[in-house]
Amino acid sequence: MAAVFESRLSRLISSMRESGVVGALVSPGTNLFYLTGLSPSATLERLFALLVSSNGEVSLLAPKLYENELKGTWIKDVRIWSDSEDPYEILKGMIEKHFGRSGGIAVDDCMQAVHLLRIYGFLRNYDLRPLGGLISGLRILKDEGELELMREAARIADETMERIISEDLRGKREKEVARMIENTIVDLGADKFSFDAIVASGPNGANPHHTPGERRISEGDVLILDFGARYRGYCSDITRTFSIGKPHERAIEVYEVVKEAQEMAVQAVREGVVAREVDAVARGVIASKGYGERFTHRTGHGLGLDIHEDPYIAPNSETELRNGMVFTIEPGVYLGGEFGVRIEDDVALIGGRGERLTRTTRELLTL
Ligand code: CO
Ligand code: CO
Repeated sequence: MAAVFESRLSRLISSMRESGVVGALVSPGTNLFYLTGLSPSATLERLFALLVSSNGEVSLLAPKLYENELKGTWIKDVRIWSDSEDPYEILKGMIEKHFGRSGGIAVDDCMQAVHLLRIYGFLRNYDLRPLGGLISGLRILKDEGELELMREAARIADETMERIISEDLRGKREKEVARMIENTIVDLGADKFSFDAIVASGPNGANPHHTPGERRISEGDVLILDFGARYRGYCSDITRTFSIGKPHERAIEVYEVVKEAQEMAVQAVREGVVAREVDAVARGVIASKGYGERFTHRTGHGLGLDIHEDPYIAPNSETELRNGMVFTIEPGVYLGGEFGVRIEDDVALIGGRGERLTRTTRELLTL
């Protein structure tokens, strides 16, 4: 169990050394989970930090509440603090002991400002930088074990889609359907849904991040469903667009454009291709049909422990795509006041080519 974490930590330590960083401060969240397997819940206001020094020392500072949970941990140096102690004084001592009195410290991007502010004066002796820049180079490449979990997260998303569209959605409120989706994801064995489900009916579909509301799904609507599962930490993210009843001409036309853009972009995924080139393929198809202005977001985002992470498939992304990367391809066209269409799959770069992890049909289905 500890072997995978030791190997990740040793790769992090190499990249810390290369960047002249003496220590890393990691707080609860996906970086901590990636490096240690720990995911303490509800630790927001109590200081919980992992210290990784460039000479290979790993120490944990944790509140007493977690003492039992941490009994079996593979981390040897654990300092538990009780409510009668000042954890910030302890942290300062640990930083000086393990990192020295000056130098670069990489701070977890999701460490709460309240913790940093409590030791702000002390930290001025150090050169702070975001941990994200150092660790994303590791997290961006998924190993076999991670890919296996992502396949399962994608499978749960597909099965959820199948179950939801077999229901009669006419007359149901968007937020009711969102709840059905989220419950189904959990019932199918996911830890949780990877983000709040998007159910956008009719004109609401023209807003890519619509919050499901009171609107009832009705005959003639174009309907967007966008959701994902989190399975043992790893996320999936799928979008399909449907017609409630017979689709109108314009819906069919726009749907075909988005479907072609998505297909061409997935085909363009190859090892060595730069991410912006894949974005340009999707954007090119949509622009050639006159909807360029209506494709208002990037083509995709990396996926893993976070629902949005590197690599971004965007017009300005210079990331070279490599085997082991996983990201979404999700072009869309949004016609304000009318409807929207988006098709999203999770794509893993395997053996030099893009492989869809989500498999739900991309044909325009009538519900
Ligand atoms: Co999505
Ligand atoms: Co997405």
